Amino acid sequence: MIHDSKERYGGISRIFHWGMALLIGWQLLKFFDRIADGEHWVGQTLVPWHVSIGSLLLLLVVLRIIWAARQRNDRPPQNPATARLVAIGHFLLYAGMVLMPVTGVMTMLGNGYGWTPFGVQLAARGDGIPWMASLGSLHSPIAWLLLIMIVGHVCIALAHHFVKKDGVLRRMV
Ligand code: HEM
Ligand code: HEM
Repeated sequence: MIHDSKERYGGISRIFHWGMALLIGWQLLKFFDRIADGEHWVGQTLVPWHVSIGSLLLLLVVLRIIWAARQRNDRPPQNPATARLVAIGHFLLYAGMVLMPVTGVMTMLGNGYGWTPFGVQLAARGDGIPWMASLGSLHSPIAWLLLIMIVGHVCIALAHHFVKKDGVLRRMV
């Protein structure tokens, strides 16, 4: 039940998948800062958690990768015709989940803003580090790419469920 099997993803993989999907969805609300400079309900109540939730996601993605590596040989099999594409797609989603928090932290440290997730000061405000700020500026373009990949991933999952009706969505719920 806790571990994955050939029939379905186990409890821990499903908690990682849906818990992180929720938190990443929350993080993407940061795009709403583009509307009226964030002077609205979303911008004032959900978006101020951005650095804290993003830092939590950094920890979670490390744990998820370790867990996925241990479950590698016991996961539900893919259709051989598309297995390679699926592997590339899932790899890119993992790359996005790693690069987003890493470039976020680089934005904070590179610009000398400090880093204080959940009120715990991990780095104080100070001088910026220019090379880190440069890499951190990739945060926004990668966020757009991740958003596109997530939309594609969700469409494929729904197509499996409603069009192909092959039970691929059910093994993750
Ligand atoms: C999975 C994790 C994360 C996601 C999905 C995410 C997503 C986003 C998005 C969508 C934006 C708006 C970009 C735009 O309007 O062009 C943004 C901006 C920002 N994020 Fe994140 N973020 C994550 C993690 C973090 C972390 C961990 C930090 C800091 C420790 C951080 C700091 C920032 C900052 C300072 C901005 C505003 C500056 C900028 O646009 O580059 N983010 N993020
Ligand atoms: C932030 C949003 C999401 C991300 C980053 C994400 C990422 C992933 C990743 C990396 C996998 C591979 C399994 C793993 O290692 O955990 C996966 C599997 C899966 N995801 Fe998502 N996911 C997201 C949202 C969703 C949503 C909203 C749905 C449903 C509509 C969905 C449906 C599925 C299904 C059905 C699988 C299993 C596919 C298979 O067995 O081959 N995902 N997801």
